[in-house]
Parts: sequence; structure tokens; C-alpha cells
Amino acid sequence: MDFYKKVEQFVQESSPKSSRHALRTVFWMKRIYPQSDEAMLIAAVAHDIERAFKKDKLKGIKGNKEGFLDKKHVEDHQEKSAEIIGNFLKKQGAEDGFINKVKMLVSKHEVGGNEEQNILKDADSISFFENNVDYFIEKLSVEIGKKEVRDKFNWMFKRITSKKAKEIAMPWYKDGIRKLED
Ligand SMILES: [Fe+2]
Ligand SMILES: [Fe+2]
Repeated sequence: MDFYKKVEQFVQESSPKSSRHALRTVFWMKRIYPQSDEAMLIAAVAHDIERAFKKDKLKGIKGNKEGFLDKKHVEDHQEKSAEIIGNFLKKQGAEDGFINKVKMLVSKHEVGGNEEQNILKDADSISFFENNVDYFIEKLSVEIGKKEVRDKFNWMFKRITSKKAKEIAMPWYKDGIRKLED
């Protein structure tokens, strides 16, 4: 787990505020898929890394008709995160095959695709509902809009592939939707 530890430290140092979401994505990935390999765990901890380097966090979201779900915003977010973690691993001396696997996973962590990309996406959704709901309700529903936050919650839940992951996320998702109505 040599590279994993280095990446975890990199994530914690570059974005202390969101490191809980990152670490819990790793936790849930291990829970739903205990045989996850090191590349998968690295992808889980680093999947949102581009946000740490984004000056205006709401750029590409605010003012968009689709809000958080704007296609270009989602694609940029996945691709930039893959790029950043790929470059980091390269500097640490990781092999190309390993780096490519991490990038392959991170570059589709929002939309999923193959089995392992879907596992990352599901773990991300669980960690989102476990940790990020209050921030979205208290801060982003004011700054972006209630409808956009509701759309985001629905999208983050609906995109989950595995039944097990859906069951875990369900109570937090329902709670989030309820709180949003208050
Ligand atoms: Fe993400
Ligand atoms: Fe995430």
C-alpha cells in the first residue's frame, strides 16, 4: 500500500475540508467490494482531487441550466481529477499500467461504466449521502438553488448500480430530501 498512503496524504493536505468524504469513499468501497485493489482505493481517495485546486468552487455550476449536473462540468471534473492524480503518481514513480488504471477509474467516477468504475461511483454516492447532504442543504441550496440540490440528490441516488449500495444510501438520501422540504 505504498502509493495509497502517499496519495491519501496528498489528498488530506490539498483539501482538508473534503478529506472526510474522500476517506469514507474508501471505507464504503472496501465494504461493498472487499477485494478492491490498490488502484481502486487510490481512485476512491483521490476521485474529487481537482476541486482542491479550483479557485472558484462553483464555477461551471452557478448559472447553468443543469446546475450540478451540467454535462461539461461533470466531464471536466472527472477528467481533471484523473489528470491530477495521474501526474502525482507519475512523480512518485508508479508504473504506467497502474497509473492508467487509476485514471480510467477516476475519469468515469461520476457516470460509471465498467464494473470497477461502477463500484467507485456507488461508494462515492454512499459517502456523499453520509457526509455532504447538510452542506448542500445549508449552503448550496442558497447559493445555487433548492431545485438544483434536489436534482443532484436524486441523480446521486439513481446512478447507484448495486442493490447493496442503494440500501446503504437510502436512509440518508430520504433524510436529505425531507430536510430540503423543510
Ligand atoms: Fe466527483
Ligand atoms: Fe465524490
